[in-house]
Amino acid sequence: MDDIQSPKISKIFIIRSKYVAVLLLVFICSFGTLYIKSFSNFNLQYLIVLSASSFTISSAPLSPYSAPIPSPRPAEEALTISSPAQLSPYSAPIPPPLPSEEALAPSISNVTSSSNGTTSSSNITSTTEHVTLRDQTPLMHNMTDTELLSLASSSVSKIREFTNYYKQVQKVAFMFLTPGRLPLSPLWEMFFKGHEGLFSIYVHPHPSFNETYPQDSVFYHRAIPSQPLYWGTISMVDAERRLLGNALLDSSNQRFVLLSDSCIPLFNFTTIYNYLMGSNQSFLSLYDDPRKPGRGRYNKQMWPTITIQDWRKGSQWFELRRDLALKIISDTKYYAIFKEFCRPSCYNDEHYMPTLVHILYSKMNSNRTVTFVDWSKSGPHPGKFKGSQITEEFLNQIRFGSQCVYGDNITTTICHLFARKFQPDTLGPLSRIAPRLYGFEI
Ligand SMILES: *[C@@H]1O[C@H](CO)[C@@H](O)[C@H](O)[C@H]1NC(C)=O
Ligand SMILES: *[C@@H]1O[C@H](CO)[C@@H](O)[C@H](O)[C@H]1NC(C)=O
Ligand SMILES: *[C@@H]1O[C@H](CO)[C@@H](O)[C@H](O)[C@H]1NC(C)=O
Ligand SMILES: *[C@@H]1O[C@H](CO)[C@@H](O)[C@H](O)[C@H]1NC(C)=O
Ligand SMILES: *[C@@H]1O[C@H](CO)[C@@H](O)[C@H](O)[C@H]1NC(C)=O
Ligand SMILES: *[C@@H]1O[C@H](CO)[C@@H](O)[C@H](O)[C@H]1NC(C)=O
Ligand SMILES: *[C@@H]1O[C@H](CO)[C@@H](O)[C@H](O)[C@H]1NC(C)=O
Ligand SMILES: *[C@@H]1O[C@H](CO)[C@@H](O)[C@H](O)[C@H]1NC(C)=O
Ligand SMILES: *[C@@H]1O[C@H](CO)[C@@H](O)[C@H](O)[C@H]1NC(C)=O
Repeated sequence: MDDIQSPKISKIFIIRSKYVAVLLLVFICSFGTLYIKSFSNFNLQYLIVLSASSFTISSAPLSPYSAPIPSPRPAEEALTISSPAQLSPYSAPIPPPLPSEEALAPSISNVTSSSNGTTSSSNITSTTEHVTLRDQTPLMHNMTDTELLSLASSSVSKIREFTNYYKQVQKVAFMFLTPGRLPLSPLWEMFFKGHEGLFSIYVHPHPSFNETYPQDSVFYHRAIPSQPLYWGTISMVDAERRLLGNALLDSSNQRFVLLSDSCIPLFNFTTIYNYLMGSNQSFLSLYDDPRKPGRGRYNKQMWPTITIQDWRKGSQWFELRRDLALKIISDTKYYAIFKEFCRPSCYNDEHYMPTLVHILYSKMNSNRTVTFVDWSKSGPHPGKFKGSQITEEFLNQIRFGSQCVYGDNITTTICHLFARKFQPDTLGPLSRIAPRLYGFEI
């Protein structure tokens, strides 16, 4: 907290934070008991931790975008922006909504009436760190994957609705899947600089990776408990779900983007944040590929749970809304089938999420990815970009060179926010272009 206090914090905020504190206390007293009762096995300790942290979150203006004027926040769909003008990625930053008293009562009563607690984890204590304001606290815990996913998909998802009204901030979770050190980390450091409070970082390195980032790095202490990846097995999907599970524990994370060690941002933070927050769709690519590398990978033993008509393919590099992320980590039925029957030449990372989302939750998906990769050369692997290829024209071609639909009915040339397969030697040319490309220097 101390680090966040700055001379910018005016008296208004201090007064308001007291006001919020009193409100919250009254609220916890009146509704808290009712809420707890609705969970058979619910862990009271966790509720208190989360309530305390939601209080923390409301007590200081975190972001350059936070607005001092409270505005009503009826529901989670506040993510939705109805005016087409606001949907433009260049639009002004969306002021984070503040709690409204009116919104609380009916919604909370709906939460209580519809929730079922299922999990109580014995080693929950470490998760207290996930919900603090500072991003620099360690993410390590001793939960197994099963415990983690079960915790993230049950109590926390319900707690989120409980605490949602007290948040000023909606964050984007940037989840890096990488063997070791991120070669392009200087670019990412500058990308994130000045936007503290609007993002969370999660890194899944190989477990043997034991280097640490300097204390002032955005990647400092952002590694999660990881497992090795084995080619052609479910371990890649496991790592993705592990990242999602950890990121979901922070209830202010609303969007979840998976990135690799070779990814670069194509726009600055503000543009990317507004693009994602301004859409109510997820960006998970999925399509039906009738060819051998598509339908040809379907295994008849998956029938009848998964039919060939439901079989989908898509890029591994997704960007998800919170509700879809929760659906994905809650799945056990389809996961078990993929684990058993999707073996090379079937690749889990290209089929599990697309097929699952197609079956369970296809409506809120744009069916396209926001991560560019070059498939123009034939072959099983996408093109890699090296330093000598990097020019402003080249990057602008990737940034604006295609057309797609954004939101309900807006055609845009901004279809990709990230691009991958950038080799470490691209850092030099990228830093020369960065001031014009992103508006910052590396
Ligand atoms: C998504 O947002 C658009 C407006 O941007 C709205 O028309 C549509 O109903 C929303 N969909 C859902 C399911 O909320
Ligand atoms: C609460 O749930 C009831 C029944 O499920 C529904 O009729 C009502 O509209 C809901 N209220 C809100 C505010 O969502
Ligand atoms: C609550 O649990 C019961 C039985 O475990 C299940 O049938 C029901 O769908 C659950 N409801 C919700 C809202 O999770
Ligand atoms: C975490 O919980 C699991 C099972 O509930 C247990 O085996 C493990 O020892 C626990 N770890 C700690 C540090 O409590
Ligand atoms: C995990 O468990 C070990 C041994 O029980 C303990 O020393 C360590 O502090 C625990 N780590 C966390 C983050 O709880
Ligand atoms: C890091 O791991 C390497 C081998 O993987 C080992 O040689 C080195 O001593 C380790 N360093 C630390 C600080 O643990
Ligand atoms: C995405 O695909 C699903 C089928 O999987 C379809 O129902 C949905 O309308 C598609 N969404 C868009 C935006 O085209
Ligand atoms: C999309 O917008 C165009 C013009 O802005 C309109 O003609 C068209 O009917 C709209 N389509 C849908 C599905 O709303
Ligand atoms: C971020 O990029 C947008 C265009 O993509 C630009 O209008 C804006 O000025 C940039 N922000 C900064 C701080 O440079």
